[in-house]
Amino acid sequence: MTVPSKTDHVDVLIVGAGPAGLMMAAWMATCGIKTRIVDKRGTKIFNGQADGLQCRTLEILDSFGIAERAWKEANHMLEICFWNPDETGAIRRSGRIPDTIPGVSRFQQVVLHQGRIERFFLDYIESKSPIRVERGVLPTKLEFDESLAEDSDAYPITVNLRHLSEEEATPKQASTAANGSCVQDGLFRSNLAADDTAELLRTSELNAKANTEEVVKAKYVLGADGAHSWVRKELGFSLVGDSTDYIWGVLDIVPITDFPDIRSRCAIHSANSGSVMVIPRENKLVRLYIQMTTTEKIGDGGSRADRSKITPETILASAQKILAPYKLSYRKLDWWTAYQIGQRVGTNFSAKERIFLAGDAVHTHSPKAGQGMNISMQDAYNLGWKVSSVIKGLSNRSILKSYERERSGIAHALIQFDHKFSRLFSGRPAKDVMDEEGISLEEFKDAFEKGNLFASGTAVDYEASKIVAKSPEATNGANGVSAPASLEGSKTTPAVTSTQSLASNVKVGMRIPSTKILNQSDARPWHLQERLPSNGTWRILLFVGDVSISEQKQKMETLCKSLSGSNSFLKRFTPSGARYDSVFEVLTVHAAKRTDVSVLDFPEVLRPYDELDGWDYNTIFVDGESYHEGHGQIYETFGIDPKVGCAIVLRPDQYVSYVGPLEDYETVDKFFSDFMIPQN
Ligand SMILES: Cc1cc2nc3c(=O)[nH]c(=O)nc-3n(C[C@H](O)[C@H](O)[C@H](O)COP(=O)(O)OP(=O)(O)OC[C@H]3O[C@@H](n4cnc5c(N)ncnc54)[C@H](O)[C@@H]3O)c2cc1C
Ligand SMILES: *[C@@H]1O[C@H](CO)[C@@H](O)[C@H](O)[C@H]1NC(C)=O
Ligand SMILES: *[C@@H]1O[C@H](CO)[C@@H](O)[C@H](O)[C@H]1NC(C)=O
Ligand SMILES: *[C@@H]1O[C@H](CO)[C@@H](O)[C@H](O)[C@H]1NC(C)=O
Ligand SMILES: *[C@@H]1O[C@H](CO)[C@@H](O)[C@H](O)[C@H]1NC(C)=O
Ligand SMILES: *[C@@H]1O[C@H](CO)[C@@H](O)[C@H](O)[C@H]1NC(C)=O
Ligand SMILES: *[C@@H]1O[C@H](CO)[C@@H](O)[C@H](O)[C@H]1NC(C)=O
Repeated sequence: MTVPSKTDHVDVLIVGAGPAGLMMAAWMATCGIKTRIVDKRGTKIFNGQADGLQCRTLEILDSFGIAERAWKEANHMLEICFWNPDETGAIRRSGRIPDTIPGVSRFQQVVLHQGRIERFFLDYIESKSPIRVERGVLPTKLEFDESLAEDSDAYPITVNLRHLSEEEATPKQASTAANGSCVQDGLFRSNLAADDTAELLRTSELNAKANTEEVVKAKYVLGADGAHSWVRKELGFSLVGDSTDYIWGVLDIVPITDFPDIRSRCAIHSANSGSVMVIPRENKLVRLYIQMTTTEKIGDGGSRADRSKITPETILASAQKILAPYKLSYRKLDWWTAYQIGQRVGTNFSAKERIFLAGDAVHTHSPKAGQGMNISMQDAYNLGWKVSSVIKGLSNRSILKSYERERSGIAHALIQFDHKFSRLFSGRPAKDVMDEEGISLEEFKDAFEKGNLFASGTAVDYEASKIVAKSPEATNGANGVSAPASLEGSKTTPAVTSTQSLASNVKVGMRIPSTKILNQSDARPWHLQERLPSNGTWRILLFVGDVSISEQKQKMETLCKSLSGSNSFLKRFTPSGARYDSVFEVLTVHAAKRTDVSVLDFPEVLRPYDELDGWDYNTIFVDGESYHEGHGQIYETFGIDPKVGCAIVLRPDQYVSYVGPLEDYETVDKFFSDFMIPQN
């Protein structure tokens, strides 16, 4: 062993720079947390890999200001076509539905490869912070002093990092096309290629002298190191679940075909040759997903399928059989891979809320449910703001327990969805109504439509906790699936309860829906969500109703008196010297006629004054008709009565914490007092 050359102290160490790790780094960059992010690979990926972005993922990217790039570059998927065998056994189109259920989001599902998404994140992180992804860096040892877990000043985790030589950090690619030409394949990051972490560790041991090793002490660690997660293994956690592994062949080509729906997303079931999913992509590319074979359970690192049998040619041949009598060939092959996956969820998502796992490190599932990148990013999106508010000393550590509960609920729901979906997708189509083994078209379409809502990511419903104030009865857990009973210990209860009926369509535990509202001061329309960027700030939305009615105005003024009082939570939980809107932003949406009121009619706490910038014109909005873009009808859409109004508390990740009476200051104060730390 070499003597480590130096010891560094960081708040957060992220292992792995895939979608999950980069999302975490984006939060840390935004919130100004001292962070390092390392990846064993020398390069980022350039093509292939995961492809789609669901609506909720786009909303999240937009909250960091990077959805626009994705939206522009991506291929937009608007339609799904179903193809099934007819009476003669030939495939024919049996239905068409919109790919994204209209109205669930202001975005629709799009397709863009993972390499581009990673690029957008890297640019964002660089623009906001000194954080840079350190490539060719391999952690070799992890120590965790659990006795320090509750000490907020401690650095209880020690990680040794080895800097690899360039040669070590460059993945070996399987030689590919039969004719020997070098098409880039995905096998180097595919799990059909044996995991090489152990091998890298051995080589770097040998090369010890040539390399440098350092010690990093961290307050928090995130293992976002993919399905083979080294961090997970070091912690002794495992993935449990289904015993079957499915092998998928994935081919990215520019197709030459007479199949008419090649530019729509298609689910094609042949009578006897299996099924294929067609995903139209950017740059004239089309991705074909084909389930190749299933293998017996292989466990973590057990025997692998014979990958030499899977080539672009074999994948194409399967597709040709399924599509017959239509013809399919290609001249341009962009990428291909074989992908082996079981449906498994991690036993633990964290060790003492100090070391966390996110993304493929805690759940794997088939690409058909097509959720890998979405769910992985959303794990880290759930975690990032919590960790940073604890590090900044704004919130009590107890809020971190909600990560495991919220995300394991989702992971289990995802696996259930995937199970059902995989069976439907890979099952044989029913021959007739008496064919019980077969999958009927109706069953498939029905499941697909329901699945679509799940897949859009907008149906996520977090259970009651310190930061989600709903009654336990209102809780089904995420999408109706609760965190497993084994996690009972991490359950927390809210200090207050919501009055859901005051905003019947803004469900506590779900992300806030969005519709257009107008800026009171200049009449410009905005989507509500556009006013909720991810920067770590809690939001208090005051639906003050029709303030031309004196009763409503009175309620607003009473509330504002408490909010601006010297003992208000806005002051108690804001660090001295900072403005309260760096911790709590108060946004007002009224329902009076826009031209009957002015920004200056609203109490000052709703439009704070700044020595340099004057009054804030950015916080008062109206539910009204815009000049060019219609009327958002936010009160009606949200189920809020303009003669009653309400107050809504939003977490920094746009999920609804609380809905209650407009004039009820005390309950909101109590909600925050339960987990926020007094600053002065
Ligand atoms: C070959 C392949 C093809 C895929 N195709 C699809 C698809 O078509 N559709 C789909 O929906 N999903 C697909 N997926 C799944 C999707 O890519 C993942 O769900 C998603 O990338 C998960 O993100 P992540 O950040 O959790 O992990 P990953 O993207 O796997 O990122 C993990 C990162 O950690 C690094 N790392 C690993 N171990 C260490 C270590 N010991 N030390 C330091 N760094 C380490 C890796 O180099 C990698 O950069 C595919 C996955 C693979 C591997
Ligand atoms: C090999 O195949 C690729 C496409 O699969 C093609 O571009 C290339 O020209 C071929 N090379 C030879 C030597 O045939
Ligand atoms: C992991 O989870 C199990 C329950 O599933 C629990 O008993 C155990 O204490 C957890 N381990 C750690 C280190 O948190
Ligand atoms: C994200 O979700 C969408 C919608 O289900 C899906 O089509 C897409 O493939 C998913 N993307 C990834 C990378 O999993
Ligand atoms: C956090 O909350 C726990 C109780 O849940 C309490 O014991 C602890 O003192 C609090 N920590 C801080 C820093 O306020
Ligand atoms: C977050 O953005 C809002 C404006 O949307 C701003 O008022 C607030 O101060 C920002 N918070 C931080 C912590 O920068
Ligand atoms: C609202 O209008 C003011 C004044 O024109 C402007 O400064 C602010 O950026 C606007 N905000 C939004 C969200 O439209």
